[in-house]
Amino acid sequence: MDTLECINSKRSVRAYTNEIISEETLTNLIELGTKASTGSGMEPWGFVIIRDKNEIDSLSELSKKYLLDNLEKYPYLNQYESWLKSPEYSIFNNANTLLLVYGNTESHWYIYDCSLAASNIMLAAHSMEIGTCWIGFAEHTLNTKEFKEKYNIPDKYELVCPMSMGYMKTKLSQPKRKKPVIFHK
Ligand SMILES: Cc1cc2nc3c(=O)[nH]c(=O)nc-3n(C[C@H](O)[C@H](O)[C@H](O)COP(=O)(O)O)c2cc1C
Repeated sequence: MDTLECINSKRSVRAYTNEIISEETLTNLIELGTKASTGSGMEPWGFVIIRDKNEIDSLSELSKKYLLDNLEKYPYLNQYESWLKSPEYSIFNNANTLLLVYGNTESHWYIYDCSLAASNIMLAAHSMEIGTCWIGFAEHTLNTKEFKEKYNIPDKYELVCPMSMGYMKTKLSQPKRKKPVIFHK
């Protein structure tokens, strides 16, 4: 797939096959992520891969409970209340793999760098028929002290991108976007 086609057709994917993504492929995707530009050359990223389906399901349930208990803090999530209340809903869309991107807060640029790395990973994955989705719903649960301790993530790293991934079940149509606002040309 050429670069322009890749950018033009990449979607957030929420339906995956059961096929397992090999460790080699995941390592390759992470390496491609680290080719992103990085402020002052600091490369502030760190990655966590989770492939235990029971753990993924339990992190989904924890996130749903946390968000429902704290909805007043996140008014923009009110529209998703019925999803979060549904026992069938997995915030990770039943993905069998999570790839989490953390940034070292010692770099002023960590959020930008890690977002660029995440975007590289998403596009590279798309070119391999692996679908990804940024899961903002998980931003609290995967960034707690307990979670960081469990997965050896140093305190000074903050979660930037929680990503679910898996081989795509169906091919999606190109993304639809509004006409870009161009302030001057
Ligand atoms: C910061 C961010 C947070 C997101 N959080 C979620 C999420 O929690 N759950 C989800 O299903 N999709 C999430 N998405 C995906 C968006 O819903 C998706 O990008 C948007 O609807 C446009 O669709 P497309 O990516 O297929 O073009 C998130 C995307 C971004 C960039």
